[in-house]
Amino acid sequence: MDQLEMKKQAAQAALKYVQPDSIVGVGSGSTVNCFIDALGAISDQIKGAVAASKESERRLSALGIEVFNANDVSALDIYVDGADEINPQKMMIKGGGAALTREKIVSSLAKKFICIVDSSKQVDVLGSTFPLPVEVIPMARSYVARKLVGLGGAPEYREGVVTDNGNVILDVYNFKIMQPMEMEKTLNNIAGVVTNGIFALRSADIVIVGSAQGAQVLV
Ligand code: A5P
Repeated sequence: MDQLEMKKQAAQAALKYVQPDSIVGVGSGSTVNCFIDALGAISDQIKGAVAASKESERRLSALGIEVFNANDVSALDIYVDGADEINPQKMMIKGGGAALTREKIVSSLAKKFICIVDSSKQVDVLGSTFPLPVEVIPMARSYVARKLVGLGGAPEYREGVVTDNGNVILDVYNFKIMQPMEMEKTLNNIAGVVTNGIFALRSADIVIVGSAQGAQVLV
């Protein structure tokens, strides 16, 4: 089974957590695109969605799903999103698609975070296979990069990428993240950092892994 089929499998399995007449929190990325397509098939049964990226917003709207502003929604039952890496504690690295800040905001609104991944995203230690994305205010790029080097990382400027919030991304190599919560806080305390791609303080509640053996639900 190829990776796209595994993503579709996980996305389809997430539909069972969608409550009738609810507003669904929707992340971003290729796995979420499969979820948006699946949601399209039941669009008449939901009230709408809050999206974590302009691209997801565009895809939802194209399927006739109403997209609400996060400021107009006090809470969401569920937030469905992918991940670049996920560890056994359901903590993640996210931000491969540069949408990490809005993903953190929308996931914070939700009672349950449902993470949909294919099996290639499972790791024991965060940072093993994927560089850590950090969203940075443009004028702080060099300062933040020096601080990241001081913490043992090797930051690379993601050339040509501007986030939905008008900022830039530094991808940090060489971080083996043994203490994700502490690291998440430390990085967020650097002046000029908007947020970083560690999702440990707000980890997933349910993980659905698409694999050759079928969709596996980890609660
Ligand atoms: C977007 O910024 C990310 O956090 C995505 O959720 C993550 O990169 C997973 O993307 P894929 O589903 O495309 O692998």
